Amino acid sequence: MPNDPIYLDHSATTPLAPEVREAMLPWLGEHFGNPGSLHRQGREAREAIENARVQVASLIGADPAALVFTGSGTEASNLAILGAGSGGRIAVGATEHHAVLEPARMLEVNGRARVHVLPVNADGVVETEVLQDTVAAGVRLLSIMAVNNETGVMADTAAIGALCRERGALYHTDAVQALSCCELNVEQLSVDLLTLSAHKINGPKGIGACYVRPGVKLDPLVTGGGQEGGLRAGTENVAAIVGFGRACERLREARTERAAHVLQLRTQMEAQLLARIDGCWINGAAAPRAPHITSLGLKGMDGEMLLYALDAAGIAVSRGAACASGSPAPSHVLLAMGQDYPTAQAAIRISLSWMNTTAEVERFVSQLVDIVIRLRA
Ligand SMILES: Cc1ncc(COP(=O)(O)O)c(C=O)c1O
Repeated sequence: MPNDPIYLDHSATTPLAPEVREAMLPWLGEHFGNPGSLHRQGREAREAIENARVQVASLIGADPAALVFTGSGTEASNLAILGAGSGGRIAVGATEHHAVLEPARMLEVNGRARVHVLPVNADGVVETEVLQDTVAAGVRLLSIMAVNNETGVMADTAAIGALCRERGALYHTDAVQALSCCELNVEQLSVDLLTLSAHKINGPKGIGACYVRPGVKLDPLVTGGGQEGGLRAGTENVAAIVGFGRACERLREARTERAAHVLQLRTQMEAQLLARIDGCWINGAAAPRAPHITSLGLKGMDGEMLLYALDAAGIAVSRGAACASGSPAPSHVLLAMGQDYPTAQAAIRISLSWMNTTAEVERFVSQLVDIVIRLRA
């Protein structure tokens, strides 16, 4: 329909899939047992959690026992960085999500580690020589995200994993934005720690997971009970874990087809935007990018104004990370890529999913063209 809302902010979050909701409902109703209890109700809940653990683990080629369910992707990254980063030196990319940058900063501030923030080039990539020098200098933990949440720029995770393995450094990757569109296998990538979040793949909010390679020693963030192998105390959120498992199972069947659809939409959208709007560019265009994210720069524009104008036209996009959208400051990602303040302010993020259509993308492009002409006038 011509005036139906169009949602192009799937990197912020995705709608709960009906089959995921269905799978969760019994665990919000008649099945209420505590998975730690020994009676039948408890055992049922435990079994549901362990089934979900297998579903999530199999999507990343992991041993289910190596997966720790957490309260979010943010918590999973905090667990990886704070749990494994103490003592010695660690390194993180300058364009990491704040869920990595902030715990790294805390380690530095509290004197628990020396932290190196690695520069990226103009396309948002940490260059190989920088990584080689960093790992050769003897860091104990390196964190480089698989897919950047603002630009979609992908790291060569397999090469970074191999480099870390060779030099005995631990490798953490934030794969929150990678899961929906990219094949991930913890063995092929040689990762030691990996962050996932359910709500980016049509699962529920408030549930994430950290893959922890067997043998990697972590200090828990939350203690007090033996849940999740002692790495995340507290009675498990059974319904959310079940939903996460179901979302992963569905994704496993559909991901290749979905990723191809999204790539086709994005290719068409970017070609139209570049052809129809003067003074616009794609941030990170020369780097390998995941298919679902476009960071669009528009000369002389203000990203926030564009966002509100599009919102008034029923179209949802964002300026960058949803969790930083309250901040007037431009994106740390674009600044790290060498952009000046006004250029970094002039960006919007469009993030697609398998649920979007060609008609939606065409309407978005037409609306944006009109808005830019109006605002520039
Ligand atoms: C790359 C990346 N890492 C981590 C997170 C945080 O995940 P959660 O919302 O589950 O805390 C997000 C969410 O926007 C993200 O995009």
